[in-house]
Amino acid sequence: MDRRSDISGFHELPPKKRLELVKSFADLTKEEAKLLEKTGALDGITADMMIENVVGTTELPFGIATNFLINGKDYLIPMVIEEPSVVAAASFAAKLARPAGGFTTTSTDPIMIGQVQLVNVKNPDKAARDIVSKKQEIIDYANEVDPCVLVKFGGGLKDIETRVISTPTGKMVIVHLLVDCRDAMGANAVNTLAETLAPTFENISGGKARLKIISNLADRRIARARAVWKKEVLEQAAKGAFRGDDIVNGIIEAWAFAFSDPYRAATHNKGIMNGIDAVVMATGNDWRAIEAGAHAYASIKGRYSPLTKYSKDKNGDLVGEIEIPAVVGLVGGATKTHPVAKVAVKILGVKSANELGEVIASVGLAQNFAALRALSTEGLQKGHMRLHARNIAVMAGAAGKEIDTIAAQMVEEKKIRVDRAKEILEDIKRK
Ligand code: MEV
Repeated sequence: MDRRSDISGFHELPPKKRLELVKSFADLTKEEAKLLEKTGALDGITADMMIENVVGTTELPFGIATNFLINGKDYLIPMVIEEPSVVAAASFAAKLARPAGGFTTTSTDPIMIGQVQLVNVKNPDKAARDIVSKKQEIIDYANEVDPCVLVKFGGGLKDIETRVISTPTGKMVIVHLLVDCRDAMGANAVNTLAETLAPTFENISGGKARLKIISNLADRRIARARAVWKKEVLEQAAKGAFRGDDIVNGIIEAWAFAFSDPYRAATHNKGIMNGIDAVVMATGNDWRAIEAGAHAYASIKGRYSPLTKYSKDKNGDLVGEIEIPAVVGLVGGATKTHPVAKVAVKILGVKSANELGEVIASVGLAQNFAALRALSTEGLQKGHMRLHARNIAVMAGAAGKEIDTIAAQMVEEKKIRVDRAKEILEDIKRK
């Protein structure tokens, strides 16, 4: 067959037929096609309803981070991620935070912003004022119509703000709808509301409403977490290799580096998102939304900055804090359709989107603490190598206790190879 991608009616075909076309286009073997077709917990019919042009499903590891104590409640944290060390690092950080009480969190109301862009407005400043002067009327109308059934659950349109911005194509009036989304992430609700109200804003301003869309810079939907890591606990965990106050200083200096350098801040925040995205993925939430929000929020003061902050308390212990836009929900989307996401939410035991936001903030802080601790003391590679060595030991046929014994010896010898693992395994078996 000729390799053309303009396949008419592809979307109307059943997944099996689509897969046949892809198989022939890409010369897939029968086995390769089977890998796509084979479904796990997410069945083909559900997958086909979730997105377009489905030909199969894929899988990622689903791990559990342990030790999380948040506001006095114990959590097991489901994490979906392909990167080794992330789950172990989060669990380790949470373990070291427990002696000082674990994580304490707060959050704002779950307010998302919907934007309506008004162009061709003759007098933008006056239009912006006029809209604000009529806001109570508009709010009452919106909450009466309640197109997305938010009011019933205590949410709805709470406020309206306007901004006049100068752009390359002229001045625009931007209307911000402040919508309390309760347990919804809110994209559908906010977008519907923005579209519902756009004609009203056109009437008041005399302009044209172009974009009506949620903003991912969710700076009104904030989750915060804080934890204290006692210096003695840090020293004990380092098994004498580092002093507690040195570890505390190292982490604060690592944070200061990120605070003053966007090149470092980008990686610092990437580490935070390792933890956050993994929980967001596990619970079927939109990880692009949380990513966009986090990085935009990191720049909100005009300079790209770390999302965490570290300081010392009066005892010389380490205090870590994080503040993130918590663009997550518990109703709607894959959270409700993906069978594994539903199980993840059950494992987490969160009862509201706010609680989920506070959990992901805690995980982000834990992840960042673990990365900074490792980077500012022994470095990352040692831990990575240990994990890598364990994988190699398993590949060589090791099981149970043999895995750690072989891994430790290979790390010691700096020879992490399957052939070496096999030799050590034979030695163990012979003894
Ligand atoms: C790797 O995925 C994440 C880190 O690079 C984060 C950091 O440097 O802080 C370890």
